[in-house]
Amino acid sequence: MPEPAISSSLPRVLSGMRPTGKLHLGNYMGALANWVKLQDSAQYDCYFFIADVHALTTDYADTSNILPNTLEVALDFLAAGLDPKRCTIFVQSHAKQHYELPLLLGMITPLGWLERVPSYKEMQENLESKDLTTYGFLGYPVLMASDILLYQPQFVPVGQDQQAHVELTREVARRFNQFYKLDGSEVLPEPKVLLTPSPKLPGTDGRKMSKSYGNTIQLTDPEPVIRQKLKTMVTDPARVRRTDPGDPDLCPVGDLHKVFSTAETLAKVYDGCRSAGIGCIECKSWAADALVQVLQPIQARRASFTESQVFEILEDGSNRARARAEQTMVEVRAAMQLTPPTSARP
Ligand code: TRP
Ligand code: SF4
Repeated sequence: MPEPAISSSLPRVLSGMRPTGKLHLGNYMGALANWVKLQDSAQYDCYFFIADVHALTTDYADTSNILPNTLEVALDFLAAGLDPKRCTIFVQSHAKQHYELPLLLGMITPLGWLERVPSYKEMQENLESKDLTTYGFLGYPVLMASDILLYQPQFVPVGQDQQAHVELTREVARRFNQFYKLDGSEVLPEPKVLLTPSPKLPGTDGRKMSKSYGNTIQLTDPEPVIRQKLKTMVTDPARVRRTDPGDPDLCPVGDLHKVFSTAETLAKVYDGCRSAGIGCIECKSWAADALVQVLQPIQARRASFTESQVFEILEDGSNRARARAEQTMVEVRAAMQLTPPTSARP
């Protein structure tokens, strides 16, 4: 069993993902692949977690999917190349500090800050089928701030959609540090956003790849499924007939080539499409080839883990996370004078 990574002197990085079920290529390119890069760089002490408590903020009425989805996401983390020997992979609900800090930070967070988070109104409107006029949903950003600040990380790698939440986290930390100090020093350093560059990744219908659009390519899709999905993918609408020239820059399949194909293939796509020298069927089969290349090793790694191994990895990671989070909580409780100052303790 690896030693707790608690004494690492590397800058800490923390990020999380909601357990939405099996992950798709968009999740991979928009987050996971970048996490693996951060881990592989060996420049950071990385913490990556599955935000199962966050799932409750929207799915409280039916919680039956959360645990199975957590397991699928954990498998996808491992499949993508997160290595429990080189980073800490854990589940939010397994570290009770994630329940404790939000209560305390909630005391100092003005309601106005929560109401003006852009995703608050937006999600309420988009998820009309769910009643999101709850305390828990409004408090989502406090939960997220806590997830982050518990690990006192220097960096939080997130996509643009999460940037406002990290900004709010910084404001909450600043407010905490203004009210409370421990032996004159700040307990909750303000973490910086590490913006994940996310390439344009269309789904099969040409819109952004997203589970809610039902247009995804899953990391677990077998080769025939990938090929079938590519076949039905929309193309440059200007190419009605085989003899009509098209433009890969106006075609979702072209976008996939830009992300996944070699420079050589990409050149063939541009030439062939613009001169009507290739057909879309051929072009799509090349895109499918590239996807299969990327997904095969991911799927092989996924298959190499048993369910009990995954549980063990999550348990071990959660132990480490808990220890790290508790270090912060000891300081938070003391700074808020809920416990005596550290200097007065035996
Ligand atoms: N809100 C993030 C999402 O929807 C998940 C998340 C929860 C998170 N806590 C976090 C991300 C802390 C980064 C840091 O994907
Ligand atoms: Fe799109 Fe390829 Fe067809 Fe051009 S040839 S329109 S890039 S699928």
